[in-house]
Amino acid sequence: MLPRPRSCTIDLMIQLRNFELPTVVQSPMADCTDLAFRLIARRHGMRFAFLEMISSEALVRNTRATFDLMKTLPEDKPLGAQLVGSDPIVMGEAAAKVESMGYGLVDMNLGCPVPKVVCKGAGSQLLREPQTAQKIFTSVVKAVKRVPVTIKMRLGYCDASGGEAATIARIAQDCGIQAISVHGRTRSQGYSGKADYEAIGRIKQAVSIPVIGNGDVIDGESALRIRSVSGCDGVMLGRGALGNPWIYRQIEAALAGETLPPRPTFEDRKRTALEHLDLQAQYDPNPVGPLRRILCWYFRDMPGVADLRNRICRADNVADMRGMVEAYQPFEKAALC
Ligand SMILES: Cc1cc2nc3c(=O)[nH]c(=O)nc-3n(C[C@H](O)[C@H](O)[C@H](O)COP(=O)(O)O)c2cc1C
Repeated sequence: MLPRPRSCTIDLMIQLRNFELPTVVQSPMADCTDLAFRLIARRHGMRFAFLEMISSEALVRNTRATFDLMKTLPEDKPLGAQLVGSDPIVMGEAAAKVESMGYGLVDMNLGCPVPKVVCKGAGSQLLREPQTAQKIFTSVVKAVKRVPVTIKMRLGYCDASGGEAATIARIAQDCGIQAISVHGRTRSQGYSGKADYEAIGRIKQAVSIPVIGNGDVIDGESALRIRSVSGCDGVMLGRGALGNPWIYRQIEAALAGETLPPRPTFEDRKRTALEHLDLQAQYDPNPVGPLRRILCWYFRDMPGVADLRNRICRADNVADMRGMVEAYQPFEKAALC
């Protein structure tokens, strides 16, 4: 039995400046939430996504690689762009550029734990530097004229109580930031342990702007739990959506107290993996490396997948990979649905 939602109806949208943010959103994920991923996800009901984080410095320098990461299509909307950086002026310039490029929302990264980001004073390091964070927020809010500005952060750098994040959340609200996503772990925790939904609730209590809860949401049950424990306004999905684009409708149904849609069959998974492969080949100039990961996402935990993974990892072209997926038959089909 799923825990009951606080009420049986949910608002499907969160009203932000000139923009209705869906209650269930896809998080930014470097090397994962690219154009092919987003197109597949949208076909299955994803209502809002972010680009993976974009370096503000690289964007203002107009680097080719950055524009490749920002590749989108008219049907890939609404879409938010997330900026990472530590210089208020550069972040402001980059934010203005993101808005002028037509993205529907500008987000700032205060959660990235990666050393090469943290050592430049960006990502989760900003949780320890509220004064710099405030300057960045002020600069970005001033630079962006029409679309909402949001932040995404962890609970803290080391302090798992959520105190650091609550301080940053209040500063963000005072600067005119319109919503906050919180991943319920600290920088020191990385991805270990479980996301702390009660601590997310303390951030929710600290501000009046919408808070989007994030961390370990993998199905309807966990979406209901993050909502009921933290009281968050929206739910952000990360890893749970990799190879699982059915998750968006499942979660929306659970939050609305409706009957869950049927789980995907093996044939659904295979067909969708092949569609993803085709889109990756169409939009990614170097699809083979990413496809080694992507294709295995779809068959996670299935019998014989280790053998499939080994073969896919040795393949050096998309046609061979396609043939391997087409030929894949798990040993016990009945156990898969
Ligand atoms: C491979 C990977 C890349 C990520 N890249 C980003 C990113 O670019 N920006 C960001 O704010 N968070 C990033 N994250 C964090 C996720 O957005 C999310 O906050 C985290 O995975 C927790 O949510 P989950 O348990 O639903 O996956 C990344 C996570 C992973 C696993």
